[in-house]
Amino acid sequence: MNYFQYIGNELFAEQVPIQEIASQVGTPAYIYSYQTLKRHFTAHDSAFGNIDHLTCFAVKANSNLAILELLGKLGAGADIVSGGELFRALKAGISPKKIVFAGVGKTQQEMEYALESEILMFNVESWQELEVLNEVAGKCGKVAPVALRVNPDISSETHPYITTGLKESKFGIDIHSALESYKKARSLKNINTIGTHVHIGSQITKVSPFVDSLERISGLIQKLRQEDIPIRYFDIGGGLGITYKDEAPPSPQEFFKALSPTLQGMDLSIISEPGRVIVGNAGALITKVLYVKKKEEKNFLIVDAGMNDIMRPSLYKAYHELLPVFIEKRQNILADIVGPICESGDFLARDRELQELFSGELIATMSAGAYGFTMSSNYNSRPRVPEVLVKGDKFRIIRERETYEDLIRGEIIPNF
Ligand code: LLP
Repeated sequence: MNYFQYIGNELFAEQVPIQEIASQVGTPAYIYSYQTLKRHFTAHDSAFGNIDHLTCFAVKANSNLAILELLGKLGAGADIVSGGELFRALKAGISPKKIVFAGVGKTQQEMEYALESEILMFNVESWQELEVLNEVAGKCGKVAPVALRVNPDISSETHPYITTGLKESKFGIDIHSALESYKKARSLKNINTIGTHVHIGSQITKVSPFVDSLERISGLIQKLRQEDIPIRYFDIGGGLGITYKDEAPPSPQEFFKALSPTLQGMDLSIISEPGRVIVGNAGALITKVLYVKKKEEKNFLIVDAGMNDIMRPSLYKAYHELLPVFIEKRQNILADIVGPICESGDFLARDRELQELFSGELIATMSAGAYGFTMSSNYNSRPRVPEVLVKGDKFRIIRERETYEDLIRGEIIPNF
């Protein structure tokens, strides 16, 4: 459930008409609902009940400072994958003691930054990375707290670009050599292995891949204990899916209920890294119809948002519901909803049935709160669009629309 709904024939974000926001900030624009964010975070966080846990929001899903700040105030930590994300999380007031750092390609500079910031732990993805981290920690006079990211060799049945738990993926350390890696890690002076991390993919709509992977990892944790390698944190990653169209993912309660037999009694602190499930359905991208082009083969609605503003349809053929901001008594048409970018792959939807729309009318691209703005770019030299947060009957711009000057910031014409 989210707080985007029709009142009469008009689409609202909480109590604010979307039309009103669009007329003040222009289009395209991302709009987020505070109540939805709060509700999703609270539902997820409280599903763990009295198990010792920390919910680290996956910053890559939505990294706007205002959103990080509001989640932080609700108790969230952060799952980061770069120095830039660390910078954002700290700026938003999230305690470094609630920050976990994943990613296969951490640079030495990023490691240093995270060590100096005293984050909770590094989720290390390879033996080589561990050696480098050991060295960097030595130079900084620190001991790096580490969880090894273990790859359980599980298929998560999602889009191939966002499945990560298979043996052939670039992520993590193979489960079969994990025990060996932990033993070797013990010999590194500046490394303290305190956890195990697993993340098998994204937009997973069934509980079984999660249950299977946690079972495998809990077997490993038992073995580690037998070898006197004590683990305090079990980071179970993110990946819980949402409803874009007709998917029926488990609720946070159902999700936790399925995992709980494995997690209860392990005497571990559980970390989770949800991204999409918190922000996905809390955001919409508002776009305006520029032109209606009727060709013999097809109808095209040419809108002012392109693949640079929302990449998911082009990159994954992802489905996003498109809602007219005003429902009118008109016939439905079948159309491709396309952007202004000079590529045929630039579309929000193909062969979509929706109410006939005319130039100047608004469409809300739903479920755009996760991996929407964060994956946007300046391709075709298009300034990135503003982000707006709605709370009750108020709304505020939380990121301004970029200007042409922003586009060329830092560019230099050399004098040779
Ligand atoms: N933890 C780790 C280590 C991750 O790699 C990810 C996502 C998450 C947590 C959060 O996953 P979530 O709960 O959001 O599923 N751009 C793609 C999704 C890429 C996900 C990458 N990793 C999309 O638009 O569908």
